[in-house]
Amino acid sequence: MDKPNLPSSLLSSSMLTADPRIARAKELLADALKEHSLKIDAIRPPNPDLVPEYQDSLSRLAVARGGAPYFPYMTSGIGNGPFVELGDGSVKLDFIVGIGVHGLGHSHPAMLDATIDAGLEDTVMQGNLQHNSGSLAMCERLLELANRQGAKLDHCLLSTSGAMANENSLKIAFHNRFPASRVICMDNCFAGRSLALAQLTDRPAYRAGLPKTLDVDFIPMFHPSDPEGTTTGAIETLKKLLARHPGEYACLWLELVAGEGGYYPGTKPYFEQLCKICHEHKVLIIFDEVQTFSRLSQAFAFQHFGLDAYADLVTLGKITQVCATLYGESLKPKGPVLSQTFTGATASIRCGLAVLDELESKQCFGADGWNMRRHRYFRSKLEALAQKHPGKICGPHGEGMMIAFTPGNGGADEAKDMLMRLYQLGLMGFLAGGNPTRIRFLPPPGVTTERHIDLACEIIEKALV
Ligand SMILES: Cc1ncc(COP(=O)(O)O)c(C=O)c1O
Repeated sequence: MDKPNLPSSLLSSSMLTADPRIARAKELLADALKEHSLKIDAIRPPNPDLVPEYQDSLSRLAVARGGAPYFPYMTSGIGNGPFVELGDGSVKLDFIVGIGVHGLGHSHPAMLDATIDAGLEDTVMQGNLQHNSGSLAMCERLLELANRQGAKLDHCLLSTSGAMANENSLKIAFHNRFPASRVICMDNCFAGRSLALAQLTDRPAYRAGLPKTLDVDFIPMFHPSDPEGTTTGAIETLKKLLARHPGEYACLWLELVAGEGGYYPGTKPYFEQLCKICHEHKVLIIFDEVQTFSRLSQAFAFQHFGLDAYADLVTLGKITQVCATLYGESLKPKGPVLSQTFTGATASIRCGLAVLDELESKQCFGADGWNMRRHRYFRSKLEALAQKHPGKICGPHGEGMMIAFTPGNGGADEAKDMLMRLYQLGLMGFLAGGNPTRIRFLPPPGVTTERHIDLACEIIEKALV
């Protein structure tokens, strides 16, 4: 991997890095990991001898965290690509990877290498009063990637969650457009779990019992069943809102492929017209790429859709292991409204850089890169299943390495039952959307192959009958 700007060879840290004992130790660790991880290459049922202790751990976890986890899932700490071993000895095909986080799957050697480097650094965390060279490398790398097709993003603020990256983007937008205090979002939007972001998220249950913190208005989403109607509807609603609340909107918030909302991609004409109208009214555009980043034909979904000219603020996270807010010089806050003790763990930052290296060197990006090729392959297999089992499965939906299908009639209970059947059979996905409720997959882009997709589709077919 690209070492994050290694300091001069006069420094003690360089001497430590170059110490042959480190290389030897790394080699030993990599060999041991490889040997044990390679054994995890197929789905396995639980080992009955391990089940009682595993169940006990899960019960204790439920008590400690105040609720059972969604799946009875706790890893043993090792895996191989998209396969992961659980504490009961079972092996699952993990096509959800912590909701899009483990882009190189489980136990990848590049992550081990980056983590050892991080362990040799002086501190566990980076922050606004504690930067190591990795922070600089990550900021510069993300800005270089973001500006490749003409966007003009000058600054990068790291943070430890997608929600914090989004909070920072909202603060920058409001600060710049003061006293404008309203936000426009698309129907079905999901932005994160803070008090402010709960207002942007189009799920009333997620703000139950919480105070109202922001004024947010919603516009219709693009829908492929009626491209013209939904585009015209969104434009008309946007114009009405702008006329009803003149000068009150600070930003338009866009997820270019609605993630939690159900894997609905928009189109360039749809987004472009909305963005253009907003810019004419001095409303900033925020692209929330926390889920889309690294999953489409380009690193950023705004590049995939050719919306570079409208990227005022961009947020990202998940697969990068550390999250970030990117923005242009003209939006730089004039007061001290942004700061954090922690911007990321040293290991997260180094691992994030390693993920970016791998995704680029494995040619995940490009119109015919692996993200799009695997999408086409997965799509064709899911389409074949939909034809073979009419009424039981429809779709697929999504874009790139974000793919979903709708089980049965789209009811939430049916989708949940199907999700749990898949889990029992060894395939991990998750729910998306409300009506219809879909089952989505976020396969790890750096390691998923056609063999894994074939296996996933065999399991889906088994779960249908
Ligand atoms: C589009 C989008 N924005 C923001 C978030 C929030 O990120 P985090 O859970 O890291 O706070 C998510 C998480 O799923 C997301 O999908």
